[in-house]
Amino acid sequence: MTHIHVVGARPNFMKAAPVIKALVELGEVPTLIHTGQHYDALMSDVFFRDLGIPAPDVHLGVGSGSHAQQTAALLTELERVFREHQPEGVVVYGDVNSTLAAALASSKLGIPTAHVEAGLRSFDRSMPEEINRVVTDALADLHLVTSPEALALLSREGISADRMHFVGNTMIDSLIANRHLFDDGVATALGISEPYGVITLHRPGNVDDRRALRTIVSALAEVSRFVPLVFPVHPRGKAGLEAVGLESSERLRLVEPLGYIDFMSLVSGAALVITDSGGIQEETTVLGIPCLTMRPNTERPITITQGTNRLVRPDELGGAVEAILKSPPDLRPPPPLWDGHAGGRAASVIADWLRALRDQR
Ligand code: UD1
Repeated sequence: MTHIHVVGARPNFMKAAPVIKALVELGEVPTLIHTGQHYDALMSDVFFRDLGIPAPDVHLGVGSGSHAQQTAALLTELERVFREHQPEGVVVYGDVNSTLAAALASSKLGIPTAHVEAGLRSFDRSMPEEINRVVTDALADLHLVTSPEALALLSREGISADRMHFVGNTMIDSLIANRHLFDDGVATALGISEPYGVITLHRPGNVDDRRALRTIVSALAEVSRFVPLVFPVHPRGKAGLEAVGLESSERLRLVEPLGYIDFMSLVSGAALVITDSGGIQEETTVLGIPCLTMRPNTERPITITQGTNRLVRPDELGGAVEAILKSPPDLRPPPPLWDGHAGGRAASVIADWLRALRDQR
């Protein structure tokens, strides 16, 4: 008997790697499915290499499309593979379309489903990820959460306490396990030695809307006058950025997406990060790097209350950057259980759950 882990998009990989590794150490035999939601080598293969994730047992090659097209293709392919493998359980990660589709396909086949990173809520249904989170949690049988407030949020949605486990943040395990490899190689190769900032932007709300993008690009140009910026460009934002006339310059360097070690190296050496990513709010919190999140809300409030994160509008960006450069915030202890051992805790909960499922058969 096997159980299946489903990954598909870049942020899944660092969350799944420590859990799969710890389950193998416990003697379980996981099957890994890559949906192919992300397929460029720089969005996928490099993460498998950097994080030492075993090659997927099945690669579905689903690729891009509208939400309906992509989710429909994911559902069809995942249902086929679940029927073929007859897993005793399915484990899904985070909040991407692959997560939602896997939870839906498995639940409809009656396969028990576990959700790693359950219970995060931005309460903003204009974000596709929020819909994915709510539906995945409603379907899942086992909820593994990264921070205590998720327990209360899940309970408000009717999830019983025996189905939730506060295990900590498995993505931070990947960070801590690889921290000794982070260096100034990427910054040096780019010829940057003075304090610099790192940008990542890919949310539809920021990069798909030309008017929003123009405002953001002019705020970034203003910031680049007093701190040089490096911007690894996600494929989603590339065309829009070019269309509003953003070009790489000495002070605002546009580069290809980076692998895990290169990206975290760049972030570790930065004076600040400007982002709309979810995971980077958490990674900067642990690294003690000030993070300015260009979003009206976050599903990760602990990165504000106990971390280095602050939500900003484009018109607030310049002032926020100046304040950070003048007096960088003090390093605070990381949120509870973001300690490098969450994968082990998640794996032992999942292994107990699988044993209980076997006993019931
Ligand atoms: C997805 C997730 C988002 C996550 C992000 C991390 C959903 C709904 N969104 O957003 O939560 O923060 O991944 O990166 O699941 N593309 C490529 N090459 C690739 C992958 C994508 O060129 O390898 C381009 C395609 O034009 C594609 C677009 O990026 O249409 C968007 O890709 P998609 O997977 O739909 O969403 P992301 O924006 O990457």
